[in-house]
Amino acid sequence: MAHHITFLWIISILLLQNSVLAEDGEIRSSCRTAPTDLVFILDGSYSVGPENFEIVKKWLVNITKNFDIGPKFIQVGVVQYSDYPVLEIPLGSHESGENLMAAMESIHYLGGNTRTGKAIQFALDYLFAKSARFLTKIAVVLTDGKSQDEVKDAAEAARDSRITLFAIGVGSETEEAELRAIANKPSSTYVFYVEDYIAISKIREVMKQKLCEESVCPTRIPVAARDEKGFDILLGLGIKKKAKKRVQLLPTKIKGYEITSKVDLSEFTSNVFPEGLPPSYVFVSTQRFKVKKMWDLWRILTIDGRPQIAVTLNGVDKTLLFTTTSIINGSQVVTFADPRVKILFDEGWHQIRLLVTEQDVTLYIDDQQIENKPLHPVLGIFISGQTQIGKYSGKEETVQFEVQKLRIYCDPEQNNRETACEIPGFVSRCLNGPSDVGSTAAPCICPPGKPGLQGPKGDPGQPGNPGYPGRPGQDGISGNSRITRCSRIPGNTRSTRTARLQRRTWERWRKGSSAVCT
Ligand SMILES: *[C@@H]1O[C@H](CO)[C@@H](O)[C@H](O)[C@H]1NC(C)=O
Ligand SMILES: *[C@@H]1O[C@H](CO)[C@@H](O)[C@H](O)[C@H]1NC(C)=O
Repeated sequence: MAHHITFLWIISILLLQNSVLAEDGEIRSSCRTAPTDLVFILDGSYSVGPENFEIVKKWLVNITKNFDIGPKFIQVGVVQYSDYPVLEIPLGSHESGENLMAAMESIHYLGGNTRTGKAIQFALDYLFAKSARFLTKIAVVLTDGKSQDEVKDAAEAARDSRITLFAIGVGSETEEAELRAIANKPSSTYVFYVEDYIAISKIREVMKQKLCEESVCPTRIPVAARDEKGFDILLGLGIKKKAKKRVQLLPTKIKGYEITSKVDLSEFTSNVFPEGLPPSYVFVSTQRFKVKKMWDLWRILTIDGRPQIAVTLNGVDKTLLFTTTSIINGSQVVTFADPRVKILFDEGWHQIRLLVTEQDVTLYIDDQQIENKPLHPVLGIFISGQTQIGKYSGKEETVQFEVQKLRIYCDPEQNNRETACEIPGFVSRCLNGPSDVGSTAAPCICPPGKPGLQGPKGDPGQPGNPGYPGRPGQDGISGNSRITRCSRIPGNTRSTRTARLQRRTWERWRKGSSAVCT
């Protein structure tokens, strides 16, 4: 194990140095490279203290390591503030990550009062306004106390200039209402809270994912009452013009696009995923098919036609394959061969969901968790090739099938919110019956309610074949939420690191306690 880790570590270092360049100079797109202006606004008031300020600097360096610094990629600026703001690092002042990190290490702690509003206005006027780049703009405000000036107007002025604001509160002196006034909505995404400075290292991964979602997933898919960051791949591939929508009345009203072999659902990846994919995401698709061969439900190809990312259905041995990039030799394939995967091949409608994280990939079928498989660390993708759906593996020929949705959600937490309401048999679970089809339940950032009743038993199935799963039980009673009213409990208590941290953040808020990471 130790050897393995050392090996990966050495590879990571090599990759960091050689970073994102391929042999032909094409760049792998990912969060490392997505053009972003990122400004950290750091509290340097007396209450922080010199030792904690050193921790903040390390944290800053740690986060910066996740990015490729440069005029074409990410530029980082730093403002430190107490009574007045100090421009520690202007945006774009360092051409390399090493120089930038050295500059961060040498910031001197100020000491003084906490004028957060003034600091946000300063970042807007003297950093963002000076950047000519048209791209994602993010400010992260880190504070450990209540501001002695007004934050709301400055934060709103920043938002008017298309700057996304995150607020991180450290310790018991921070005020929830103030953090919410600083940050974008929803607060569950943009406000973080940690008990003390030691604990900020624990939100590093969450911050990395969230910052990445901002730069890589600018598009929003309307889902129930909420706009989810992600990609509607069917729309991205022009399905509305290319395929016919057919409404089936039996057994439930489900609208699916009919894909015939004459349809070609292909598009340049640069038009669909211009900055690649975030480190964690959720793939969801609902389809039915009869084909018994091996075919790619979704794939992202290199310019010479090799799959970089793919969800493949193997109709021969009734398994599902997930292909992604790998730091080991460029690509990795995991095979889901659990007997329950066979249900996908029964010619009925089914929902496939893959929760992809930096460590593993988990398959869900019709809202039931099937299998989890580890992944090697991945690389960004080349965007010069094509993104396609419904193609025979290794061929350009289109598979005949029907598809109802095919999406990527960038927030892994969506895995806990997504329902399979469009699948016959799941409708009973969905609030509005069939009209819920194609949408997802209201967001749930509330504490869970009471568990629901157990559903009826599933069909035992033919010998050798798995039965259909039982219907899910009724929803439990919703818990209370101060952030969003909730109509149902999360379908699933399993969660990613991000989700866990966010849930804990929420629970602490709810209890009015002052700790998140214990
Ligand atoms: C920075 O990263 C190092 C190495 O991963 C870790 O040990 C340390 O706790 C991190 N510090 C902060 C403040 O994030
Ligand atoms: C990478 O290695 C795996 C086995 O670890 C192999 O199955 C796969 O074909 C290799 N991919 C390439 C591109 O060489």
